[in-house]
Amino acid sequence: MKPKILMTRAVFPDVITYLAEHFEVESNQEDRIFDDAELVRRMHDKVGLYCNTSQRVSADIIAACPSMRVIANMAVGYNNIDLAAATRAGIPVTNTPDVLNETTADFAWALLMATARRVTEAEHWLRAGKWEKWTYDGFLGADVHGATLGILGMGRIGQAIARRAKGFAMRVIYHNRTRLAPHEEQGANDAQWVSKEALLAQADHLVLVLPYSAATHHAIGAAELARMKPSATLINIARGGIVDDVALIAALRAQQLAAAGLDVFENEPALHADFLTLSNVVLTPHIGSASAPTRRAMAYCAADNLIAGLQGKMPPNLLNPEVLPRK
Ligand code: DGY
Repeated sequence: MKPKILMTRAVFPDVITYLAEHFEVESNQEDRIFDDAELVRRMHDKVGLYCNTSQRVSADIIAACPSMRVIANMAVGYNNIDLAAATRAGIPVTNTPDVLNETTADFAWALLMATARRVTEAEHWLRAGKWEKWTYDGFLGADVHGATLGILGMGRIGQAIARRAKGFAMRVIYHNRTRLAPHEEQGANDAQWVSKEALLAQADHLVLVLPYSAATHHAIGAAELARMKPSATLINIARGGIVDDVALIAALRAQQLAAAGLDVFENEPALHADFLTLSNVVLTPHIGSASAPTRRAMAYCAADNLIAGLQGKMPPNLLNPEVLPRK
């Protein structure tokens, strides 16, 4: 008999077929969101959990699923999973790094450009039938070329964003807990490490790419927004909760900040209703990695992690190697 796994959300059908070569798969192609009780109930006879960021896997859930042997998250971010609790329970947890770096960096630029040049605001206005004549001051935005790009969180996606700034002749500054090695800074368009305060004060366009954790909760709040240039734009492609949404709404409303481009929100998919009343914000529904090839690569990456983990092999993207027996 094949071991049983649960896939919590809909995914490309061929990925289910691929996993079914190894496992008895319970999939969820109708894509209902399971609450905690349903997840635990469905996991009672499963050894593997294939999930994504919309599925919370808390310490309580982990404790209530004693047969669970591997958790494979179809995302690079894994703040939906209590990694410490999984580690205590000896459960390997995996994510899908690298396969989405370039696609997510592309999207950061799409959001940055749309925000700086007011693309969606202008389109809404045009669609509303308001375009009667060209004007010299219609939808004036900020320049991207020659500006200072700030990046908070300089991992692999941050570096991919920085590389793209070369074509725009931008100065790149970044802040990260750990400074990059000189060759990495050089590869990231000669990015310059600065303090968080300097980053906030100097960036014309500030992109957030840091992982969410208790330590990064509200890393951008009222005090940080107050340090930014009134002409600056803020782009969040990382996670909701890194920005204090209420403080951001106040700053955008007061034009203390020119504009924001947001792909992620506190409490998503619910978002603060006031965002919808602001014209100086570009809003997208967490689609940073959403190109067809990349989402497919992520889905197979998670599948390969799950297969390896349940076959007792080292999963390629193991987040908690300390759960493996010492050699
Ligand atoms: C990720 O991979 O973390 C993306 O945000 C998709 O959830």
